[in-house]
Parts: sequence; C-alpha cells; structure tokens
Amino acid sequence: MSQTVKVKPLARGLNGKIQVPGDKSVSHRAIMLASLAHGSSAISGFLEGEDTRNTARAFAAMGVRIDTPSAHERVVHGVGLHGLTAPDGPLDLGNAGTGMRLIAGVMAAQRFDSTLIGDASLSARPMRRIIEPLREMGAIIRARDDAFPPLQISGGNALRGIRYAPTVPSAQIKSCVLLAGLYAGQDTTVLEPVGTRDYTESMLRTFGAEVQSSERSITLRAGARLKASNVVIPGDFSSAAFWIVAASIVPDSDLLIEQVGLNRYRLGLIDALRSMGANIDVRAGSNPDIGQIRVRSAELAGVDLDPALVPNMIDEFPVFFVAASLARGRTHVRGAHELRVKESDRIAVMARALSGAGALIQETEDGAIIDGVKRLRGDVGVDSAGDHRCAMSMAIAAMVSEKPISVRDCANVNTSYPNFWATASALGVDLEH
Ligand code: S3P
Repeated sequence: MSQTVKVKPLARGLNGKIQVPGDKSVSHRAIMLASLAHGSSAISGFLEGEDTRNTARAFAAMGVRIDTPSAHERVVHGVGLHGLTAPDGPLDLGNAGTGMRLIAGVMAAQRFDSTLIGDASLSARPMRRIIEPLREMGAIIRARDDAFPPLQISGGNALRGIRYAPTVPSAQIKSCVLLAGLYAGQDTTVLEPVGTRDYTESMLRTFGAEVQSSERSITLRAGARLKASNVVIPGDFSSAAFWIVAASIVPDSDLLIEQVGLNRYRLGLIDALRSMGANIDVRAGSNPDIGQIRVRSAELAGVDLDPALVPNMIDEFPVFFVAASLARGRTHVRGAHELRVKESDRIAVMARALSGAGALIQETEDGAIIDGVKRLRGDVGVDSAGDHRCAMSMAIAAMVSEKPISVRDCANVNTSYPNFWATASALGVDLEH
C-alpha cells in the first residue's frame, strides 16, 4: 500500500512534552526470549509496529500463546527452547531485517524445517552475513543466490558452539549467533569489531542464561535454560531521533522527550549533533538506561563526522542528513557503507529526496558530502522508497522548508512508529493525507 503525506512548513517552534513508542530492537527480542523461556512473561511498552507484530505472529505460528491484555502489552506463555512446533507455512517477517536475522538463529536449531520470507525490501537484503556463521555451527540453509531471502532452513541439525568474528559491526549478526548458541553443545563467542547494541546479551542474562562479556567479546555458556521474566520496554531512541533533529533545526523549539531508552550503543546522534553545536540535555532516571531528552533550537555547524560514531547512530543517518543540510558549512560522512543495505539504500534515497527539496548533498560510496543551506525550497514530491526512516526524515525536512513537501510511499512508517503523524499533528505540524 502506497501513501502520500503532504507536510507543510512550521510557522512556530516545536514545544511541549512527547513520548515515543516502544523500542523496536527490544520488542523483537522480548517476544523471542519470552517464547523460548519456561513460564509466562509480561511485556509492557511493546511496540505496536508491523515489524514487531510480525515477530509475535511468527512465534504464535509455532505454537506460542501470546495474549494482548491491552495495546503495548503482551503476555507470552513460553514453551521452552525445545517447545516450538512446525508452522503451517512460511514465516513472513515483512520489512524486518532484525526479525528475519534473529529468528534465523532460532530456526537453525529446530527439529522441523522452516522458510523465512519478507517483503520486497527485506527480500533484497544481504543474508550471507548470518548464513555463514550459522553454517559454521552446523545449520543447513538455502537462500536465493545463496545470499537473499527466502531462507529455507532445514531442521534436525545439532549445532556446535563457535568463536565468530563478524567483519561488519552488527547487533543483528551477533544476536543471530547467540540465539543459535542457545542450542549449541559448546560455548558460543562473538568477537565484535566495534561494540553494538547489547540488548540480546543483557536480556539473555535476565532470562537466566550465563553470558560473559567484556568490551568486544561476548560468550554464551552452553546448556542455558531460559526462565520467564517480565520486560519493561522504553521508548525507542531511533524514533526520538526525528524529534531531536526537528527541535534542533526548527527555530524557537523547546521539546522534552520522555521515557527514552538510553542504551550507550545507540546515542551516537547526540554526540554528532552536539559536535555541531546542538543544545541537547540528556537526563537518565533511576534506571540509567531510561531517561528524558530536552532539545532546544540551535544554530548547527557542519562537521567532519568521526567514523567511529557511525555504528552507534546507524539508524539515524536519514535524519542526520536533514540536520546537516541545514547546518552552516560542510558536513562529511564517511565509513557508513552499511546504509546502502538497510531498508533501502539510504544514501541514495536521502540524497535524491533532499536534493529534490533544495539541499546540496552529494553521495559518496560510503557516505555523503553536504553543504548546508539556510532553508530548503520544498515545493516538491519526494520518494521515500518505502523506507520508514527516510519517509519520516523527509517529513522533518518539510517542517523547515519554504513550501510543503509531499512524501510518497509512507505506509511503512507503521513498521516502527505508527503514531508518528499523530505526534506531528499534536506538535502543530500541518499535514494532508
Ligand atoms: C538492530 C541492529 C541494527 C539496526 C537495526 C536494528 C537490532 O542493524 O540497523 O535497525 O535490533 O539488532 P545491524 O546490527 O545489522 O547494523
């Protein structure tokens, strides 16, 4: 389903308090680990997005009872590591790379065969990065061109623990290998090139597995038995990111975003924007991983972005490109090649959309060179390529344009941030659907 939303420029600042929906990464993992645990786990703050619902549907299709007492809540009646049953048909993970790559680790160890499918975007995303370590563990997997979904995973294979050093920094690869490791006869170790979001290893611990980690090395001890645990999911930093950039670049803004997840591997955008002069105050609550973020408008200056920040702001580049387009001077992004294999080629899609709206952005192989302008022109229809984060980023760009921007192909905003448009309206943004 395609959807076009016309977003009009804002005549005033973004003010007030907002909350963003539950974290997508944590929501996927909570469903998965609760399904594989013994006993019932209550999950609150669950993201009611298409991606995470598809993960819940996949486990329901394998015999896990998942109740929905109310929106954003799930009670998962876990079946234990060996209690899943063969689904009737393929498991459809929709748009979700996380869903497919993590579930593949679980399926590789089941007694039954399974097929993992996804939408057009997911069907074009690279899977060799998980197929290789899973094969090393003893899994049997077939894929289109040995690289892309659908994934056909054979059941009945005993897995062995490995020491694996992915060449790409990826929480998805790490998590896939650790989840398969739950079924391995030996310990499983992942050696990361750079630290990435650590939800899988910390949630595995919460559910009773023994996991040892140092800065770059995570070891799951063989023989874990998972026990149910309740999970409280904070707001998604990557959803907050749109408003962090918006309040920075829309003049006269003072916005408070509450209950946001502050996992240290997710906060690269804050460092990047601060280095450009942004006015952002982050305050952790009694739980240091959850807090509030206050953003006031600021004049941003272009930056030669430190490539070391890239992995910890990997999902924020579409909206970071918007910030850079409005910053004084030149911004140079390097070392972000992974953006080309996300839900879309985010370098190409954002360069095309922002150029159409009047920005000066030039693609490079692994990033972009952006010369800031005072204001975008707008008065254009731009294509989000069905990528949720590109669609929302162009909506933010429209808020600081001279004329409206029509953002095409927005339906996938529902994969991660179903109430994005409602929040935009509540903050005074004029939209035409
Ligand atoms: C995610 C990890 C990241 C991120 C994705 C969610 C996760 O992907 O881009 O949106 O939940 O583990 P990579 O780890 O492949 O970079």
